[in-house]
Amino acid sequence: MNITMIGTGYVGLVTGACLAEFGHSVICMDKDESKIEKLRQGEIPIYEPGLDALVAKNVTDGRLSFSTDMGESVRSAQAVFIAVGTPSSRRGDGYADLTYIYAAARDLAPYLRDYTVVVDKSTVPVGTARQVERVVREANPDAEFDVVSNPEFLREGAAINDFMRPDRVVLGVDSVRAAEVMKDVYNPLYLISTPFVITGLETAELIKYASNAFLSLKISFINEMANVCEAVGADVIDLAKAVGLDGRIGGKFLHAGPGYGGSCFPKDTLALLRIAQENGVAVRSVEAAVEINAAQKARMVKKIRDALGGSEAGKTIAALGLTFKPETDDLRDSPALTILPPLLEKGARIQAHDPQGMKETAKMFPDFIYVKNAYEACENADAVVLFTEWNQYRALDLQELKSRMKSSIFIDLRNVYSPKQMKDAGFEYFGVGRG
Ligand code: UDX
Repeated sequence: MNITMIGTGYVGLVTGACLAEFGHSVICMDKDESKIEKLRQGEIPIYEPGLDALVAKNVTDGRLSFSTDMGESVRSAQAVFIAVGTPSSRRGDGYADLTYIYAAARDLAPYLRDYTVVVDKSTVPVGTARQVERVVREANPDAEFDVVSNPEFLREGAAINDFMRPDRVVLGVDSVRAAEVMKDVYNPLYLISTPFVITGLETAELIKYASNAFLSLKISFINEMANVCEAVGADVIDLAKAVGLDGRIGGKFLHAGPGYGGSCFPKDTLALLRIAQENGVAVRSVEAAVEINAAQKARMVKKIRDALGGSEAGKTIAALGLTFKPETDDLRDSPALTILPPLLEKGARIQAHDPQGMKETAKMFPDFIYVKNAYEACENADAVVLFTEWNQYRALDLQELKSRMKSSIFIDLRNVYSPKQMKDAGFEYFGVGRG
């Protein structure tokens, strides 16, 4: 099957490479010539484990290619995926900016030949698929096509596995014909009995927001429980384990921490709130999740300040991890980059390390000092703060770390270490929700 992917961002690239791996012939198309040129030379613009090898393999096997030519990309395709960005609009009001989606729809329309399925892969507000349909129809009234909503549920850092072995595939369709084409697209997943939810366009669009909102709720809930644990001397790890063992609740996404970040949860929760508001419906649980998340980040600033004896002025903080989670180079809405700036402003010296995120962080925060590893970050530090649970930080040589520090304060915002282990190693340890 010939498939075209418009947009070679994170979602487009992963989806394109994985569909090629399924055996389809895939063209990844982007207007950005330098990006396409780099991709042709085997340069992957993002860090995602396994993606470079998957792209290289499928390019070599002749199933995956890159193009800037819309006509060439769309003419022979049976399915054209739109996977362009939908950032929060610049107005800062939570609306998703759909400019790129509609531009892609307009641009692809003249090249539709035989029956084609136009697939919305980007996360878009309810009603966008129908709007895409109108845009394509207006630009090419004779085209034979259907629009399908096929939201992605890829986690950065685990995206290839999430694509190849998903919990479910959601298809919002308006016609049996479109559903049949999509079944062909995902044929290998049918063969491994992946559950498919085939529903209407609006429902599919809303499922994506509801899923991410619920996960955000779970995180905000456990973060509030962590705060209660701190107040009453309880341990949130044991609490989350026991609560999560109830099959009705489930143990995933119950890790207390500095609040969620990334390209999806912050953006999608706000977009869901806007959708609800526009339709006169209150979604108070999600409103609360968003507020709690902001409060959690502020609470972490205070936690660090308090650990440093009430003032960060003139103190050196070793910051371990800058990306919003491990195994990605994504810094969008990263807790570290919300928590560190107020400390810097009040006179703290920040010695930062991250396995993937330092180059980009340096552009935004030139006043941080960037070092080669966790131990260098701890040189003469008054406190070390673990922001992101990269594997490199999970088994640190604690004695080596301590010998380099001025003091022995360890603030573990991901609860990687146990309070006893840290106490035994001579640290003054602060976790999240640990008594
Ligand atoms: C998420 C969804 O998981 C994915 O299905 C969707 O398509 C896109 O958004 P992603 O943003 O890559 O994926 O990261 P995820 O692993 O979900 O983590 C999001 C944030 O929540 C991170 O900042 C992470 O540290 C935080 N988190 C996650 C917690 O604080 N506690 C948890 O228990 C889980």
